[in-house]
Amino acid sequence: MLKPEDNQLLTRTNSGTPMGEYFRNHWIPALHVDELPFPDCPPVRVKLLGEYLVAYRNTDGEVNLVEEFCPHRNASFYYGRNEENGIRCVFHGWKFGKDGKCVEIPSEPSESKLKDKVCIKSYPCKEYGGIIWTYMGVEKEPPELPEYEFGRVPDNHRLVTKWHQKCNYVQGIEANMDSSHLSFLHSGGFDKIKDLSNTLKSNTAPKIEAHRMDYGLLIGAARELDDGNVYWRATHYIAPCLTLIPRRDNQPAHAQAWVPIDDENSIGFAITWHETRPLSNSEVTDLKLGNQIHPKMNPGSFTPVYNMENDYMINRTLQASGVSYTGIPGVAAQDASVIESTRGIPDRTREYLGTSDIAIIQMRRFLMDGARNFENGEDIQRPDSKKIAKLRSNAVTLQKGVDFKQGLNESLGINTLVEELK
Ligand SMILES: [Fe+2]
Repeated sequence: MLKPEDNQLLTRTNSGTPMGEYFRNHWIPALHVDELPFPDCPPVRVKLLGEYLVAYRNTDGEVNLVEEFCPHRNASFYYGRNEENGIRCVFHGWKFGKDGKCVEIPSEPSESKLKDKVCIKSYPCKEYGGIIWTYMGVEKEPPELPEYEFGRVPDNHRLVTKWHQKCNYVQGIEANMDSSHLSFLHSGGFDKIKDLSNTLKSNTAPKIEAHRMDYGLLIGAARELDDGNVYWRATHYIAPCLTLIPRRDNQPAHAQAWVPIDDENSIGFAITWHETRPLSNSEVTDLKLGNQIHPKMNPGSFTPVYNMENDYMINRTLQASGVSYTGIPGVAAQDASVIESTRGIPDRTREYLGTSDIAIIQMRRFLMDGARNFENGEDIQRPDSKKIAKLRSNAVTLQKGVDFKQGLNESLGINTLVEELK
């Protein structure tokens, strides 16, 4: 369980909160690149960390992320004209360009100096891996954007989905590092992979290790097999909000990220990629159906097809028959049903956590330590951005007694990181 003040520290991310400032001093995923498909395309609304923002792609093709409301009379730039490298408020024609500088106030006499005094908040953006990232810690120089492997592959090797989830961001991250729930919530979700399905169903209490790294956590979940070997699922949590999800053999790799919209809503990002080949049509179709970590989406929206309003289309007959553990279709909707079910931020003072929750406990500590240390003036610990590209999350079978960090070294790509374990 957490103290009430720790639950507050962990979950509150508006401007001025310690966790909000910690997030603001990382590059965070904000938009899918397809939201701004061409120069001078329509602007889009984005709400991040409690702030109302508008993003637009200017005439030169650069993405600008600015505060939503015009400093003249607070009209939204969402309805603005995106023209000639700037966003123009349609109320009185005030125009703002690069870095939020006011470049024109046509509603004032030409000799007016008012435009020299006016500026809007503007956050730097970078496009990487099918995602538009932003850095909102304007008081400090932006760090390097971590070079995730999925950003280094051609676009046809990768699928990115963005959606809105009605829960605090922490619940999304917690589910990502909770290996034990695969044996329950997603029981049946792996039926097509017989040996994996049997392993998850027959061993419901994995032994979890969580090692603190400079980038976050390296988590191992061990399930003993009948033949004496051990099935390991190894996961990287990269602070503040991205998790690399274990993959099997030479299958595509997966990641999820959770970004606070405000304290009770989040943006989910799912990324699937393969480092050496394009994703096949059948892989993309399966992903878009919601069978894995990408929700099935209502086209042109950020609302998943299976959502809270329709109770995720739960089928109680399937649930009762045991054909499906939940009666809810697909891994993504199953996750959504539980993480959105808490009616606001969960009361973590009444939790009873077990040994299967060790990674969740460590993740919370990592975030809270980071936020507290940053508030106390310490710099945020950051790994070399290129080191992040070597991280892989894998699931493999090892002989009993083999240290998973050593046994997975090659496939995890952590050769240089093991000695940094604390
Ligand atoms: Fe899950």
